[in-house]
Amino acid sequence: MEKFRPSRTDTRQIPPLSPDKDMPAPVELEKKEDEPRLLKFSILADVHKGPVSYYKGALRKITQGAKEYLDAYIEEMNERVKPAFVMALGDIIEDDGLENDRRNLKEVIDGLKKLNCPVYYAAGNHDLRNVSEEELAQTFNREKLYYSFDSEDYHGIVLYSKAIEDKIAVISEDQLTWLKKDLESTDKRCLVFVHHGLSDQDMTGNPWFEGAPFPSLVENRSEVQKILEQSGKVAAVFQGHLHWDKMEVQNSIPYFTLQSPVENEDDLGFASEARHIVEVNGKAVSMEVRGRYPKKFRHEFSFGERPELGRK
Ligand SMILES: [Fe+2]
Ligand SMILES: [Fe+2]
Repeated sequence: MEKFRPSRTDTRQIPPLSPDKDMPAPVELEKKEDEPRLLKFSILADVHKGPVSYYKGALRKITQGAKEYLDAYIEEMNERVKPAFVMALGDIIEDDGLENDRRNLKEVIDGLKKLNCPVYYAAGNHDLRNVSEEELAQTFNREKLYYSFDSEDYHGIVLYSKAIEDKIAVISEDQLTWLKKDLESTDKRCLVFVHHGLSDQDMTGNPWFEGAPFPSLVENRSEVQKILEQSGKVAAVFQGHLHWDKMEVQNSIPYFTLQSPVENEDDLGFASEARHIVEVNGKAVSMEVRGRYPKKFRHEFSFGERPELGRK
């Protein structure tokens, strides 16, 4: 097995922690009267607080710095980014037995209470290895693991992709019925959050999921995609679990996949420390990835195909 190399004490040359100045410009702030106002929020994907994790003989989840990382993240959000909300996209913990899982969940959630904005939680497969769905929903202060909320001119929808025996991940029938109703009930444009992949993504080159027996994507995703498309209201979908940063556009909806902050992204033995800042307005949605491997993704809405996104 590869020897653990701590992420913060190694003095070798590493990529900078701040984003590259030459990156594409952020979403324009200009807006027309009937467009939604700019919304800025942050997503925290796959924190995996708990023990380190190896896969195929290589160290993949460098989790020792989780507390330090979260403290720095909270300060960055409160002092500089000032997001409208933070979304924790599941796999908050690395499962380690019921008592440790309860403790780690509590520590992360209590820590994130220091944020000066609302925090929303999606359930990840590792959060539910030992803790029951009911207990996790209670821990998130929710009746169910799927729910929705409003933030300024946008409507957030949190889906629960349930992993069944680590073989498939599904969105339940009850939830699909609820999703249709929830989309109908809002006049705002929608942002969808889910742990497993909801887009038709190719796993080639993914260190975790290429040829893996455990689920990467939601099994009944085409059904979910259709509901999102038919609503005409979905501006973007955000998904975790896959431990890499990607964006693909399917039938005019951009699907963003987010890297985990503890992932050994380039196999050099450093946690990626990835954190994600999203800006969305009437014209475009952009996602900035900060950390050791900064990136920027941007999708401009095509009003020809989806005129409804051009107005509030
Ligand atoms: Fe994960
Ligand atoms: Fe996961």
